[in-house]
Amino acid sequence: MTAQIINGKAFAERVRSQVAEHVARLKVDHAIVPGLAVVLVGEDPASQVYVRSKGKLTVEVGMHSVEHKLDADTSETDLLAVINKLNADPAIHGILVQLPLPKHLNEDLVIGNIDPVKDVDGFHISNVGLLGTGQKSMVPCTPLGCLMMLRDHFGSLSGRDAVVIGRSNIVGKPMAQLLLGDSCTVTIAHSRTKNLPDVVRRADIVVAAVGRAEMVPGDWIKPGAVVIDVGINRIPAPEKGEGKMKLVGDVDFASCAGIAGAITPVPGGVGPMTIACLLANTLTATCRANNLPEPEGLTV
Ligand code: GUN
Repeated sequence: MTAQIINGKAFAERVRSQVAEHVARLKVDHAIVPGLAVVLVGEDPASQVYVRSKGKLTVEVGMHSVEHKLDADTSETDLLAVINKLNADPAIHGILVQLPLPKHLNEDLVIGNIDPVKDVDGFHISNVGLLGTGQKSMVPCTPLGCLMMLRDHFGSLSGRDAVVIGRSNIVGKPMAQLLLGDSCTVTIAHSRTKNLPDVVRRADIVVAAVGRAEMVPGDWIKPGAVVIDVGINRIPAPEKGEGKMKLVGDVDFASCAGIAGAITPVPGGVGPMTIACLLANTLTATCRANNLPEPEGLTV
């Protein structure tokens, strides 16, 4: 069997154009422009690339984009002051603090100070609790993107066996909650899981989110299963020339693609969906803040 390749780049473009349509309508019908603020502390090169890309795509869908770039040695007090100002700003509907933060800043405290209604990352403890109890919340962007692709592939996820490999707060745990919300039978596997290959072999849906290059081989995959690869790992690529690097996922694409029913590639799978879902969440937050109906298909 050769797996269908799930094209996340094309999917994300569709999501962004849906968002752009809603944004245009909000402007014409209600004179509202959704605003997204991104706060970046320090000069981590990968974070700078993400933030630039977020800013560009935010403007492209017609939203108001604000960036706060703060020095690496910014104090917690000064960072919280920026967040409180954004919380109070009616032109801002979504706030994202780029992680990781420099070591001297307490991430839980910082995230905890974002107004939960504007927490477009879905990291605030009250959004985590709402998601866990099946209530309306802001949903973390990467798991939301994975869920959209799975729903699109399967239609209904009800009754399917899902294994999430990885238990991070950003991906693994919220992904498991979302799959449970769609009535999957969910297993969360992690570094202490016994007999991981057999656990994965039971799954109709495998979501790999551990951050370990190509750790899931094809012979762990049940024939026909759908494999969602959240990993983005940079590894040496001597076949491209000396010192060259390439991006790979947490899944060994070549062997899994021979067995799975469908699979997301890296790059071009889950990655582009994250920013598309950030924009979708910003739109959702804007609608909620203004008591307007939420966009269909762009929220859980
Ligand atoms: N750093 C890496 N991924 C993310 C994300 O989804 N949100 C935030 N805030 N920071 C990140």
